[in-house]
Amino acid sequence: MKLTDAHVLITGASRGIGEALAGQFAEAGSRVTLVARSADRIDELAGELGGAAVPADLTDPAALSGLIARVEEEHGPLDVLVNNAGRLPIGAIMDLDQADVDATVRLNLLAPIELCRQALPGMIERGRGHVANISSTAGVGCWPGIAAYCGTKAGLTHFTAGLRADLRGLPIGTTVVEVHVVPTRMGEQLLEYGPAAASDRRMRRLGILPHVTLEKLARHTVKAVANNRRHLRLPRRAAFIAGLSEAPRRSTEWMIAGVPARE
Ligand SMILES: NC(=O)c1ccc[n+]([C@@H]2O[C@H](COP(=O)([O-])OP(=O)(O)OC[C@H]3O[C@@H](n4cnc5c(N)ncnc54)[C@H](OP(=O)(O)O)[C@@H]3O)[C@@H](O)[C@H]2O)c1
Repeated sequence: MKLTDAHVLITGASRGIGEALAGQFAEAGSRVTLVARSADRIDELAGELGGAAVPADLTDPAALSGLIARVEEEHGPLDVLVNNAGRLPIGAIMDLDQADVDATVRLNLLAPIELCRQALPGMIERGRGHVANISSTAGVGCWPGIAAYCGTKAGLTHFTAGLRADLRGLPIGTTVVEVHVVPTRMGEQLLEYGPAAASDRRMRRLGILPHVTLEKLARHTVKAVANNRRHLRLPRRAAFIAGLSEAPRRSTEWMIAGVPARE
């Protein structure tokens, strides 16, 4: 995907990974549209980057409905959709309340699926497009205190594989990003929970999962979209964990090779 002058929509762009991605896409010459609830912050950032801000609560079905059409009407056709917004309720599942779990499934899983459903027809019609879904190593491995989150991220990674099956033969790319702990508000909150912090210390002591810097993640993600890479796994040394979980998806793909992708 050529990123110069591409129109890139990034959800969860008010801080953390989304903000860093917005900066990197703008640096690559793209025009960014930023989505999050914090209207003032995305307005300010859009001003700095020369993009647009579209405030929305993606857990709200009314706000999600028709969102891509509104963005395209006001800011032009979309070339890249980056599903990055996410939330992480921390604690054993028995200690979480229903609203927290509900909002997590809506934001981390339902919203990306729905935004793809809305964005893809236009991309297909224009013969150009890319979807990047920001998943997590929590979508392939499980740690205590984040079970609902792990479920949504596994769902997002698996959904992206399904998306590829539907898009086979079309000029639309997908990238799934599986990253471990990044020092953002979410990353810091996670490490305040004892069992998650202990798991993290163990993984780092084993030398398997060091933390990833925001700058590195954003730079590699933008490069992966530009190069139409299907998978980005960071830290790279943990790729074998994600690679093992990917095996059933790839073998199914192989088994149905030649079957028509769409009716
Ligand atoms: N940090 C990590 O260690 C890590 C590791 C692996 C994967 N990830 C994934 O990376 C993505 C970004 O995480 P992050 O670390 O940057 O988290 P973060 O610092 O907590 O930022 C989350 C972003 O999502 C937005 N958001 C939250 N609720 C929203 C809602 N209801 N509607 C619309 N936007 C909403 C927030 O903006 P507002 O509050 O303004 O709405 C913010 O921009 C997430 O999908 C996360 O699961 C993070």
